Amino acid sequence: MRREHVLPTPEDTWTLGRELAAVLGPGDLVVLVGPLGAGKTALTQGIGAGLGVRDPVTSPTFVIARVHRDGRVPLVHVDAYRLGSVADVDDLDLGASTADSVTVVEWGEGLVEQLADEHLVVRLDRRDDDVRTVELVPHGPSWNSRLDGAA
Ligand SMILES: Nc1ncnc2c1ncn2[C@@H]1O[C@H](COP(=O)(O)OP(=O)(O)O)[C@@H](O)[C@H]1O
Ligand SMILES: [Mg+2]
Repeated sequence: MRREHVLPTPEDTWTLGRELAAVLGPGDLVVLVGPLGAGKTALTQGIGAGLGVRDPVTSPTFVIARVHRDGRVPLVHVDAYRLGSVADVDDLDLGASTADSVTVVEWGEGLVEQLADEHLVVRLDRRDDDVRTVELVPHGPSWNSRLDGAA
């Protein structure tokens, strides 16, 4: 899987999420970085689709986190925008542990990296022409090989 992507449409963002989901499994942590409107929630919707989640994946801004249990792995979707710290997402009492779930965190940079031994940072940006750019930044030994092995 390429480390850098140029995504002209929302569907492209969704498709990238689906592709990422193919390499995600229990215990994985994905940290989404980028300004408001960059496509963090859209990417999470694609990840959800790739995991087989059928309920709507929407912005969790007002609830901090949601768990979608109807896919092949539980998807924990966190919006850390108004959290000063996340000592442990398990403290949010979601009824799903990060060890058993795929955890995707919007606005989580600097807050949640310690939740897992390794994690994938996804840097999203919005160009002046509205096209989104995405950079996948692996943190930890397995992520490079996982991305290299993915289509
Ligand atoms: N690649 C893209 N090109 C154009 N618009 C996009 C793209 N990806 C997402 N969008 C749109 O950008 C808007 C904001 O996306 P959203 O995922 O809510 O951003 P964020 O969660 O980062 O604030 C949505 O209307 C979404 O459809
Ligand atoms: Mg969002």
